[in-house]
Amino acid sequence: MKQGKVDVLLGLQWGDEGKGKVVDVLTPHYDVVARFQGGPNAGHTLEFNGEKYVLRSIPSGIFQGGKVNIIGNGVVLAPDLFMEEAKALEATGHPLRERLHISKKAHLIMPTHRVLDAAYEAQKGKNKVGTTGKGIGPTYTDKVSRTGLRVGDILENFPEKYAAAKARHEAILKSLNFDYDITEVEKKWLEGIEYLRQFPIVDSEHEINQILRSGKSVLCEGAQGTMLDVDFGSYPFVTSSNTICAGACTGLGIGPNKIGEVFGIMKAYCTRVGAGPFPTELFDETGKKIRDLGHEYGAVTGRERRCGWIDLVALRYSIMVNGVTQLIMMKSDVLDGFDTIKACTSYKVNGVETRDFPYNIEEGIEPVYVELPGWKTDMTKFTSEDQFPKQFSDYIKFLEKELETPITIISIGPDREQTIVRK
Ligand code: GDP
Ligand code: IMO
Ligand code: MG
Repeated sequence: MKQGKVDVLLGLQWGDEGKGKVVDVLTPHYDVVARFQGGPNAGHTLEFNGEKYVLRSIPSGIFQGGKVNIIGNGVVLAPDLFMEEAKALEATGHPLRERLHISKKAHLIMPTHRVLDAAYEAQKGKNKVGTTGKGIGPTYTDKVSRTGLRVGDILENFPEKYAAAKARHEAILKSLNFDYDITEVEKKWLEGIEYLRQFPIVDSEHEINQILRSGKSVLCEGAQGTMLDVDFGSYPFVTSSNTICAGACTGLGIGPNKIGEVFGIMKAYCTRVGAGPFPTELFDETGKKIRDLGHEYGAVTGRERRCGWIDLVALRYSIMVNGVTQLIMMKSDVLDGFDTIKACTSYKVNGVETRDFPYNIEEGIEPVYVELPGWKTDMTKFTSEDQFPKQFSDYIKFLEKELETPITIISIGPDREQTIVRK
């Protein structure tokens, strides 16, 4: 962390790497934490003092010492879900009002966006993306089509703007012959709009640059992961925003020269939720074992996460497109009991071996694995890297060499305390 700098923390796989946990751990080193993209499709889990929280739209820096947290312009916000999340936090003794700032330029997810999400998925049939159903795609579509509603719109003539946007969506839904009823949801959503007004609604790009000018530091919290990025992910099985580091520039209004460290987070294995290609996916008992030990079920939807071995081909690509400077490895404890561990070091693409991530990973990909000895040690109570068994230290060295990037933090359990910062 450098003064006047912005560090970015983001997922390198298909999301759910453990971003929430690490943002919470790192927050004491920063003055401000900011989300720059995504919305309530995210589910970021934090555990401390025996309690567990799942955050969806609120940045994960909200629990550490009254820091300002910002929801940036690149985020899409559902007022009803935001209200639910914020009220639940306040009820558990975590006041938010003054220190959670919301960008005027963040786009609003309307009830009809969620219906459109469902309608488009239904239309795709067996090719559906398996979205979270939160209206993410349709909201970003409206943003790019220049027809979206923004948080700043609630400050002036909102009912007219809302009615016009809703009518447009209704016409589309009619053309799709899609049945729906938003009466109840809309009531709550409009309540959510009123609730939003209690928070500082700000020009977050000005605020953040002023913070930097005054020598303070900002940590940006990514949502989803690089393999779900709309440009570089496994398109079309992706989310609708730029989840990569560049997204922090567009989603907060900061210049690229302000970015300092780029923390890339990965699990010691790999998971994916929703449809789409996943070269190292395991369909056997090992996959099931990882799912059970890692409690790999969606934080928001409860869906089973697909599990597989770590994919170094995909990770090298993610490190490249993000300019990752430090790696953070999560959930190594899940592999504590394995006799051997596999890592995919290259792909055979239609029989030809490559270490470069190909354009299309949907077919003809055969992962090539290296098998390493397991460490067979419960590491969940370790407090320093000096306690690591040799096999684990060797695994770290192997990954660092393959990925040409240092692993500086290792997570050995879901709790805030179960985190080892390497020397
Ligand atoms: P995020 O979306 O990237 O913030 O990740 P999620 O919260 O969706 O999923 C990560 C899950 O793993 C959560 O249930 C965390 O509590 C849990 N978790 C995080 N780090 C570790 C770890 O090192 N070990 C174990 N066993 N669980 C972890
Ligand atoms: P966090 O921030 C894992 C996936 C969905 C689906 C695809 C598109 O918790 O890591 P969307 O609703 O965004 O249009 O869905 O992206 N997806 C995630 N998978 N973690 C997430 O967030 C995700 N957010 C979206 O499952 O495949
Ligand atoms: Mg998650």
